[in-house]
Amino acid sequence: MKELVIGGVKASELTAQYGTPLYVYDQQKLEANLEAYTTYFKSDVFQTRILYASKAFQTIGMLDLIAEYGLGVDVVSSGELYTALKSTMPVEKIYFHGNNKTTEELRMALETGVKHMVVDNVMELEELAGLAAEYKEKLQVQIRLNVGIEAHTHEYIVTTHIDSKFGIAFGSSDYEACIAILKKSDYLALEGFHVHIGSQIFEMDAWYAAIDKMLGYLQTFSEPLTLNLGGGFGVRYTDADQPMPIKENMAQIVTYLEDKLQETGVKIREVMIEPGRSLVAEAGTTLYEIGYQKKTPNKQYYFVDGGMGDNIRPSLYQADYSCDVANNMTAEKSELVTVAGKYCESGDVLIHDVYLPPVKKGDILAVYSTGAYGYAMSSNYNRNATPAVVFVKDGESRVIVKRQTLADLIRNDVKTEADKHA
Ligand SMILES: Cc1ncc(COP(=O)(O)O)c(C=O)c1O
Repeated sequence: MKELVIGGVKASELTAQYGTPLYVYDQQKLEANLEAYTTYFKSDVFQTRILYASKAFQTIGMLDLIAEYGLGVDVVSSGELYTALKSTMPVEKIYFHGNNKTTEELRMALETGVKHMVVDNVMELEELAGLAAEYKEKLQVQIRLNVGIEAHTHEYIVTTHIDSKFGIAFGSSDYEACIAILKKSDYLALEGFHVHIGSQIFEMDAWYAAIDKMLGYLQTFSEPLTLNLGGGFGVRYTDADQPMPIKENMAQIVTYLEDKLQETGVKIREVMIEPGRSLVAEAGTTLYEIGYQKKTPNKQYYFVDGGMGDNIRPSLYQADYSCDVANNMTAEKSELVTVAGKYCESGDVLIHDVYLPPVKKGDILAVYSTGAYGYAMSSNYNRNATPAVVFVKDGESRVIVKRQTLADLIRNDVKTEADKHA
């Protein structure tokens, strides 16, 4: 009855100590990914910079680790900015993204010393120019471009689709308006251009197509600018996903860029990437306790003590995951089951049609590769508390985020007048 071990600690020891559901990160895997990105996203021809797209999994503990490896961070809200400022991440390494930053968020960025803004539309840039002048703060601005390339898994499409909510088209009237605002402003400087073509990208040609487009744009400038390629590097959720190792993926992008820069003569200030998922997804495992089972004419259900509140991705966009019975790894997987959660939604199914061994109440189910957009997208639906997050390394575990308590759930509820006098 072999048991799943994460970072040198048995799954059953983790659940006994911290309860379930539980987000567990293998810290050594996080570090190996960070090491791979920082080692292989390097070139003798151009400067490189890596930002962690912190929306994938944002906590102070994670950002402290990111800062240790010298990466910067991309944030998309006042909440993400606030968390980053409370971590050891230097403010100069924070880049503020988002298509609809509020005035308060822009002010917060200026007041807290953020230096890099990734601007998504003309109205934002106009407002930012006014605020930067008011605060007398100099800012570096990247313009997010929509290059008409959409990449997901093994396909990418070149579209004439210019109706995305993100980015503006190079050469469009909005683009020209942005350039005019930047030229007029004493406080805003054009740092470069940003593009993000999708998620779970396995196909190198998609990257190459985006690079070609962007270099074409950069060629029209006499001064070297920054090329920010965004994130989207693919990860393994199930056997159907075969991502390229980070080392190879980075080496291929760097080589392609070096060749293209030589061929086109384009001069570049810096090339940036923004990996999110690929840094954290496979390092994360969610441990659940299996509760009741149920058979219907066509299905067998194993119910777990979590679900869409800790991992919305399967319900939201049919994301696939793989799993094991963590306290019984060697038993024959003889049962075809559906793993469903405890939330009041029929769509609250974590995994459809997976083979697992027979189980009993109290067994532990491990769902793999939940490290990205799991905790980050968690909710308190049905007033379930958000699970704890632990990092495990060399046989030691430490809490990164505490499990919410029942008191946390009502912390912001305002009592009615009648209750107050009761
Ligand atoms: C602008 C930008 N950069 C980076 C990312 C991170 O993408 P991933 O987690 O797929 O690497 C995203 C994800 O939505 C994004 O919108």
